[in-house]
Amino acid sequence: MAERIVIFDTTLRDGEQAPGCSLDTEEKYEIAKQLARLGVDVIEAGFPIASPGDFEAVQLVAREITGPSICGLARAREEDIDRCWEAIRPAAKPRIHTFLATSDIHLKHKLKMSREQALETAEAAVKRAKGYCEDVEFSPEDAARSDIDYLCQVVQTVITAGATTVNIPDTVGYSVPHEFGQIIATLFERVPNIADAVISIHCHNDLGLAVANSLEAVRNGARQVECTINGLGERAGNASLEEVVMALRTRQDLMPYETGIITEEIYRTSRLVSDLTGMMVQANKAIVGRNAFAHEAGIHQHGVLAERTTYEIMQAESIGLPKSKLVLGKHSGRHAVEERLRELGYELEQDELNAAFQRFKRLADAKKEVFDADLEAIIADEVYHVEETLKLEYFQVVSGMGTIPTATVKLIKNGREVKESAIGVGTVDAVYKAIREIAEIKHDFIDFSVESISENTEAMGKVTVKIASPDGRVFAGRGADLDVMEAAAKAYVQALNKLIYHTSPGQTPTATEST
Ligand code: KIV
Ligand code: ZN
Repeated sequence: MAERIVIFDTTLRDGEQAPGCSLDTEEKYEIAKQLARLGVDVIEAGFPIASPGDFEAVQLVAREITGPSICGLARAREEDIDRCWEAIRPAAKPRIHTFLATSDIHLKHKLKMSREQALETAEAAVKRAKGYCEDVEFSPEDAARSDIDYLCQVVQTVITAGATTVNIPDTVGYSVPHEFGQIIATLFERVPNIADAVISIHCHNDLGLAVANSLEAVRNGARQVECTINGLGERAGNASLEEVVMALRTRQDLMPYETGIITEEIYRTSRLVSDLTGMMVQANKAIVGRNAFAHEAGIHQHGVLAERTTYEIMQAESIGLPKSKLVLGKHSGRHAVEERLRELGYELEQDELNAAFQRFKRLADAKKEVFDADLEAIIADEVYHVEETLKLEYFQVVSGMGTIPTATVKLIKNGREVKESAIGVGTVDAVYKAIREIAEIKHDFIDFSVESISENTEAMGKVTVKIASPDGRVFAGRGADLDVMEAAAKAYVQALNKLIYHTSPGQTPTATEST
């Protein structure tokens, strides 16, 4: 039987540390549910001591999600480990992940510790974690740049102290495949008790080598891969889960290992993470990019029609890419819409279904063909909602060549109608200025992006807006509509509503402290 590779997903922890990415508790919970459906073995749900918001999210995931182990991150400090345990203890399978840097650069400049002190601290941290829970992971941060003799000593010590998994991170994405593979091989050669723990790897993508390094580590004995959906993570991100898993599946001839991933859930997981984080997936991204299974060149199309394997190494269905793209139109009834949503994997509550169907009807009246991607945008727009302090009632724009872009916007604010007009450098700017005037909330504008859903000029536009509160927390708002201006206005209002909700007294902050 093929050996099993443990898939450790850190989208909710390292992924959420990506610049401009932010998730609130409910969004983290939605993603965790989907990760469980995807079949990951371990969900790293967050860094509980970083903030009350992080703690709350980890605890909710630990309480509600069954199937995968639920892991929390902790520095090698007593207070971190205690807080981490408090958050994950409701889980059926809890794991504490504690870490301490071992490279001389980090020891000298960050920790200001000697190697001996770090060794003792790592040992003590693992022992403390072990006092709470059987499943303990230790990471020597910046392992790839650590002295190999010292790294071997650390690995041996933490295994003796009780670590059941030892994770070897390439924290700064500096390593290259043959070198990283050699580090893993050396650990297997030199650490006498290595068989008592699972050896894991955690590769960052600064040189675009995270997946290659991870696979090389697996070839050399690593049996847990830490990765994220869409490769999210600090700086250039982490190894992408979908790329690692599909590489293992597609190249069984060279890497005869199995994972527990239900690959047909990959596409949907990728969309959900992209929608909720507001981090778009580039069109040519391997596996989940819009073009990953599209054949543009005539010669390729001809080849694929004659024999699929001429240009296709994987089938779109294997990652759950919907087979038929054209689904519904204005004569489609509620049952057909419900059925299609179910086929796409959405299990909605009755009120969510009602909202989705009403939106579908309006869309189908305006547009001949409604595609799966349109339905997905409707769900992202209608279902994942926040409390609405502000509600978009009406807006009008005046624009054209030689005119001054002008907007009039009406919002319901705390139940009262408020109207404002503004001019801007463009129509979006004018609408946003008017909304900003009405909202009267301090924030910085961070990002604005527009994506077209499905093809042609009838396509819906999906807008993502990111704003930051004065204390630096990032909030993403989304809007999807046939009218891009309306999508833009909705996205901004949603981002503001999130900021209002999460910064109002009584709400726990969700920003994470960096590791
Ligand atoms: O990149 C890194 O080293 C980490 C550790 C906390 C595992 O994220
Ligand atoms: Zn990392």
